[in-house]
Amino acid sequence: MAMLKHLLGIEGLNPVTVTTLLDLAESYALLNRSGKTQRDLLRGRTLINLFFEDSTRTRTSFELAGKRLGADVLNMSVATSSVTKGETLLDTATTLNAMNCDLLVVRHNRSGAPALLAEKVGAAVINAGDGTHEHPTQALLDALTIRRNKGRISGLTIAICGDIAHSRVARSNILLLTMMGNFVRLIGPPTLLPSGIEAAGVELFHDMETGLKGADIVMMLRLQKERMTGGMVPSPREFFTYYGLDRAKLAYAKPDALVMHPGPMNRGVEIDSDIADDPARALIKEQVEMGVAVRMAVLDTLARG
Ligand code: NCD
Repeated sequence: MAMLKHLLGIEGLNPVTVTTLLDLAESYALLNRSGKTQRDLLRGRTLINLFFEDSTRTRTSFELAGKRLGADVLNMSVATSSVTKGETLLDTATTLNAMNCDLLVVRHNRSGAPALLAEKVGAAVINAGDGTHEHPTQALLDALTIRRNKGRISGLTIAICGDIAHSRVARSNILLLTMMGNFVRLIGPPTLLPSGIEAAGVELFHDMETGLKGADIVMMLRLQKERMTGGMVPSPREFFTYYGLDRAKLAYAKPDALVMHPGPMNRGVEIDSDIADDPARALIKEQVEMGVAVRMAVLDTLARG
């Protein structure tokens, strides 16, 4: 595998790199289940979690991944940092650089912020979500979860539903899943589907009944109200009626279709609790578990590179 210096997006990766990362993550998933750790791998290395946007699962997942590999992990969140005192992104980068940080995990509300930092710091930079652009570790953990449950990560019909326009998770998943040879469908109201997205090799649908027909995987997304500029959706109740995943709509998909959601969920808006909490259909907890394994694989790979 070509040496990876940073992980800024799925864009730029190839199927071999993705498969190598998933295989390594699979071995970390087994290690995690056995309760063992591998604390010598990143001993003496420093990982900084630099989060300019709120996060619970992604930040704790990177923290746990770093600690399981023995790194010294530091969490910096914006509210308590000098950013609130007007320091620019690049000043922050210079400061972190002076601390000889090895791995820098960045979440930012602006698309491209991690790439900008990557040009300025010596550390390996991992994009933990930038604006509406990419969230590569989420796409990798989703791919690993699918592969474990369907036995493969190609030739599947995968429907991504809801607020695609604002979703970096959707963008990274579209890139990864089409690259690996799956049939990707996007389902949502026209206001929530980005214009020109067909060029990415996906099929668009505006209703769940036709869009879910024959789907192996149904991936639901959160309605990202904080990124919306006004009346893009009707009331949450109306959204649920047309696009919320409940038992009746799931029945349009294949009988063995499995359900995913990156979290955090808006129960009763994009997904019914009845489905979200059904261990026979929902992979949501396994996604969280695979998140730690995938991040261990990414940290391991970048630390070697
Ligand atoms: C997502 C994100 O922040 O992009 N959450 C996550 O990382 N699991 C999706 C979201 O916020 O809805």
